[in-house]
Amino acid sequence: MSQEATLSFDGNEYKIPVITGTENEKALDIGKLRASSGGLITIDPGFKNTGSTKSAITFLDGEKGILRYRGYPIEQLAEKSSFLEVAYLLIEGELPSKSELDLFKQNITHHTLIHEDMKRFYEAYPSKAHPMGVLASMVNVLSTFYPESQNPNRTEEDVDLTIIRLLAKLPTIAAWAYKNSIGHPVMYPKNKLGYCENFLHMMFGMPTEDFEADPVVVAALEKLLILHADHEQNCSASAVRLVGSSQANLYSSIAAGVAALWGPLHGGANQAVIEMLDKIKADGGNVAKWVEKAKDKNDSFRLMGFGHRVYKNFDPRARIIKKACDDILSKLGVNDPVLDIAKQLEEVALKDEYFVARKLYPNVDFYSGIIYRALGIPTDMFTVMFALGRLPGWIAQWKEMTENKEPIGRPRQVYVGANERNY
Ligand code: CMC
Repeated sequence: MSQEATLSFDGNEYKIPVITGTENEKALDIGKLRASSGGLITIDPGFKNTGSTKSAITFLDGEKGILRYRGYPIEQLAEKSSFLEVAYLLIEGELPSKSELDLFKQNITHHTLIHEDMKRFYEAYPSKAHPMGVLASMVNVLSTFYPESQNPNRTEEDVDLTIIRLLAKLPTIAAWAYKNSIGHPVMYPKNKLGYCENFLHMMFGMPTEDFEADPVVVAALEKLLILHADHEQNCSASAVRLVGSSQANLYSSIAAGVAALWGPLHGGANQAVIEMLDKIKADGGNVAKWVEKAKDKNDSFRLMGFGHRVYKNFDPRARIIKKACDDILSKLGVNDPVLDIAKQLEEVALKDEYFVARKLYPNVDFYSGIIYRALGIPTDMFTVMFALGRLPGWIAQWKEMTENKEPIGRPRQVYVGANERNY
């Protein structure tokens, strides 16, 4: 039975329909409130309590620490699935059959090359260019090489091809950004390799010698990409949907997602965590001192990798990553002293009243950087790794928004500036 809420304001009552999700979460649908009330809107900076859409992709319950892609618990997918299978699940809505997955992989494998003319763009970037800046611009550049993607009335086949191209080319673009930054020749993709192996080959292979990826590294990468693959309406997914809602092409919408992810409060946190841990180590490793700094409102320092807008109990991804971190470092025989600092920091913070009262727990990025470093990934590529993982999620969010024919995103505001005055 449909429910209604009643809002009373200024002596009037307004009926507001209530929407119920499949996990029984409730939302007040205020879409018609302005019209029915003669001008009332709602305000919620940062969308802390505002749903922007109805979505069937990812469910998360921050209080219970639940995360599911298309209904499947993240713990099961991280344990049993592969990144491309999860990508298919997110984008198509169901797990693929063996033949569907084989075809999906085959299509991706055959689109991994980027247009040779794109190589020339790399020559123009300064050698110190941050790879996230390169990634965002190169993804946008793809739209210029495939102008048919700009047609808002493109066919389903065109969209499918764009999706395949994005999944196929992003690892190439990312690895080439790294090769370019260190002045090494770029490595072309190899069709006989799997998705993660191919990326590692393009990152660490050299024309002068054979390269074979360590299976431990490949498995770790699969897991990290799966854990990052989607996270419902976060900052970058919302950016992708908002840009896409103007009927901008998929490449440019994804480029907007990359830009949003770059910030240290979002995906950039993985780089910021490692830099923070290195700084604490260089400073003598006095963890308590840095916890005090994080609590000091007059100090801009925040404990990076701690806290989350939605998880107020624990981040299920962080649990999986912490366990994987110990496992992978021991398998690779890596002893990173910042892992001890991270564990001490977590222990001190989790007992501290400030963090307990605010429900601040380690998030997905707290331990991921330590794993990336053990895999040989350079620090400024960490957020690029996050972007490679998040790509299927962004695509799924864009596709859902487009297929549901959602209206252009256009929030309102409460104007607080000067009243009319004469020039
Ligand atoms: N260190 C110290 N204090 C913190 C932290 C932190 N990392 N995070 C939140 N707080 C405090 C904050 O100062 C505020 O205190 P008070 O109520 O006294 O003003 C309170 O906790 C609530 O914080 P908020 O900033 O209002 O919460 P938010 O939901 O707007 O922000 C956040 C969430 C993730 C941006 C924030 O926790 C943060 O800046 N964390 C560090 C950056 C980080 O790790 N980001 C990665 C997020 S996970 C990856 C992803 O999906 O993007």
